[in-house]
Amino acid sequence: MSVKTELLSILEANREKDLSGEEIANRLGVSRTSVWKAVRALKEEGYQIRAVNNRGYRLEGSNDVISAEGIRLGLEEKYRDLPIEVYKKVDSTNVELKRRALDGGVHGLTLLAEEQTGGKGRMGRSFYSPPGTGIYMSILLKPEMGGSDAVLITTAASVAVCRGIRNVLDIEPQIKWVNDIYFEDKKVCGILTEAISDFEMGRIDSAILGIGINYRTEDFPQELGERAGCIGQGALPPRNELVASVLNEFWNIYEHLTEREFMKEYRMRSNVIGKEVRFLERDEWKEATALDIDDDGGLVVEWEEAGGKRVRRTLHTGEITLRIKNGLPS
Ligand code: BTN
Repeated sequence: MSVKTELLSILEANREKDLSGEEIANRLGVSRTSVWKAVRALKEEGYQIRAVNNRGYRLEGSNDVISAEGIRLGLEEKYRDLPIEVYKKVDSTNVELKRRALDGGVHGLTLLAEEQTGGKGRMGRSFYSPPGTGIYMSILLKPEMGGSDAVLITTAASVAVCRGIRNVLDIEPQIKWVNDIYFEDKKVCGILTEAISDFEMGRIDSAILGIGINYRTEDFPQELGERAGCIGQGALPPRNELVASVLNEFWNIYEHLTEREFMKEYRMRSNVIGKEVRFLERDEWKEATALDIDDDGGLVVEWEEAGGKRVRRTLHTGEITLRIKNGLPS
């Protein structure tokens, strides 16, 4: 580990406390000049470190740079060794993680970026990813499960994000089937899971779970209209805390994924069940009532055909666009 990385771990663990250069130098077994150089390097990367006369250095409470060291502090002991890497700028963490997966990336490898220049959304859409205000994260999973269970990954991630947001910000977000998180009727998070298939074996080789959270992003492009929002404003806890909480929640669910226990909470947080919806299927809009979400994440809908016959069907994610009638802006 470099002096800079070790210094950051110490500063993160002692946020808003003054630490003398000498004390840090002794703990790291390096000279005070090395400490000073590492502080300077971190400051150049945007960390808010204050040098206090005669008292040493302190990481300001308002510092909100995402770092592997800061995230690790909030992880449960059993997840502390997860490989986490943070980029300043990348095209898309999903795309980068796919490259890394093909290059031998291990299960659990987690990439984050302060900014994405080509953030990807579902169905070929883009995901607005300006610097410093959001959380753009992708996790590499090598699931030992069949293709149908893999659908649960997105569903599990939705619940994990909601729990993370609740833990850190004390608010209760909702889930719009299948993978959008809403707060106060605005979309604050989108999830995109992509599979890398092994065609010969007929199974999923890896899954790339991408999570994009609008943390304090405010000025959205016009084309997103009234739909997008963020989860907080003003003095918020550092993003590292939310990332750690989402990861803890996600891995705890993932360990027992196929038991589907978390589906109860998914249903409870649904803002779709009981609503009149419209869904687009093969270029045709249909109107229906959303009745339930089954244990495989399918949306059970019912509608009346001409002639009065009631039809019940379960929709599966993929190419379905869903709108809530008289509800959230879509
Ligand atoms: C959607 O709302 O349609 C899904 C958005 C998913 C965005 C995340 S941000 C991190 C990861 N990298 C990407 O390019 N996309 C996902």
